[in-house]
Amino acid sequence: MASHALPPPTVRRKTVGLLTALAVGVLGAVAAPVAPPTAHAAESRAEIAAESTLGAAAAQSGRYFGTAIASGRLNDSAYTTIANREFNSVTAENEMKIDATEPQRGQFNFTAGDRVYNWAVQNGKQVRGHTLAWHSQQPGWMQSLSGSNLRQAMIDHIKGVMAHYKGKIVQWDVVNEAFADGSSGARRDSNLQRTGNDWIEVAFRTARAADPAAKLCYNDYNVENWTWAKTQAMYAMVKDFKQRGVPIDCVGFQSHFNSGSPYDSNFRTTLQNFAALGVDVAITELDIQGAPATTYANVTKDCLAVPRCLGITVWGVRDTDSWRPEHSPLLFNGDGSKKPAYTAVLNALNGGSTTPPADSGPIKGVGSGRCLDVPGAGTTDGTQLQLWDCNNRTNQQWTHTAAGELRVYGNKCLDAAGTGNGAKVQIYGCWGGDNQKWRLTSDGSIVGVQSGLCLDAAASGTANGTLIQLYSCSNGSNQRWTRT
Ligand code: G3I
Repeated sequence: MASHALPPPTVRRKTVGLLTALAVGVLGAVAAPVAPPTAHAAESRAEIAAESTLGAAAAQSGRYFGTAIASGRLNDSAYTTIANREFNSVTAENEMKIDATEPQRGQFNFTAGDRVYNWAVQNGKQVRGHTLAWHSQQPGWMQSLSGSNLRQAMIDHIKGVMAHYKGKIVQWDVVNEAFADGSSGARRDSNLQRTGNDWIEVAFRTARAADPAAKLCYNDYNVENWTWAKTQAMYAMVKDFKQRGVPIDCVGFQSHFNSGSPYDSNFRTTLQNFAALGVDVAITELDIQGAPATTYANVTKDCLAVPRCLGITVWGVRDTDSWRPEHSPLLFNGDGSKKPAYTAVLNALNGGSTTPPADSGPIKGVGSGRCLDVPGAGTTDGTQLQLWDCNNRTNQQWTHTAAGELRVYGNKCLDAAGTGNGAKVQIYGCWGGDNQKWRLTSDGSIVGVQSGLCLDAAASGTANGTLIQLYSCSNGSNQRWTRT
């Protein structure tokens, strides 16, 4: 299975010792000698700790900052230079939609989608998938379908596209824009809706089976204002899904703000309330009419304030790339120069909350003082974990999910390669097995759900490079771990 890309290697949190961060100038676990801090270094800490690109600045709190990419612009070097420099997540603007990926029934075409995907991963970016089931941008053959025939076509489409990108997409917008605008709180009338009210949950169940590693999102616009009927309707649906076990992991707030749908400071409340339902949230298509710097900063701070806000995606690079160029709604002018809104967002990311995404961070061995580390920041399935000096890089960031997984890079799991003493503990694409589930006990042990054995630094080793295995639980200091 191909792995999805990592954010750039400059990723780190602001809490990292500055000199450590500067000294570790290469990928992952290859640590350089670290000089002790000096008074001079401490004085200049604030200045140097600020990151100079959106992606690196967002990564300080474990988040991403992404953009929509249009395949037709990938031969524009001014465009790709900015996109590559500033962003560490990519959404295909149109290329993974239904009309692009299944132009004829049963005949899939991933040429344009793969162009965007490949550009992203070749440049070290993660990819959001957009979008699998939607009333708009359906190919002609699908527009003319109805009833069970359309329902089956939707299921087949989800399976076909997700199979192609299996294990490669961090978040998928499974269903897009299913609620009506206005005050009704009703579902949008569409051919998909007319197949039966359960079409959305069928889409999510199909998606979970097709790619268990992807986070599955519902995505919509005009759902940012907590008081709006559309927001409340979406909230009721997500709450119902969580109660009934319909597999939904995240909600995408498109965030196309304009005079008819302005930003309201209660957006933060909205994000918090959805997160409290037990889903992640993301800002997925941000653009703001006129690009007011303060509003851009406020949206950024709203995401930073919510631990389950995974990141922000703007809907295009320069104003001239926008679907609404007349609104000049983005962070870069047509000539590639940075707008005041860019600086406002960057400052917000640099000065912003250090609240990491929920239940996420390094795992430190009590006996060694060293961290659970993927050697060389590798992404290959089967790579055995080791102890290494804690450096707060992405290959040491572990998220304990509600399912009990310990995830790294978003879609790789801490995985036991066996059930006996000495079994290798490795990374592997998340698939939901019990060998990928772990209990974090109050005494500091991390117990494999399948084996009942403990995460163990082999031979009570404490040095860099000590391998991680399963072993009978003893509560020794080589089996106790802290999460900071
Ligand atoms: O590429 C063809 C071109 O060959 C043709 O000559 C031309 C004629 O109009 O159309 C071009 O395709 C256009 C395509 O964008 C690429 O530029 C389509 O007409 C146009 O409809 C399409 O618009 C996209 C729109 O979704 C369609 O619904 C926008 O680029 C895209 O930014 C926009 O994105 C949506 C999200 O997916 C969902 N949320 C709202 C957001 C903004 O509308």
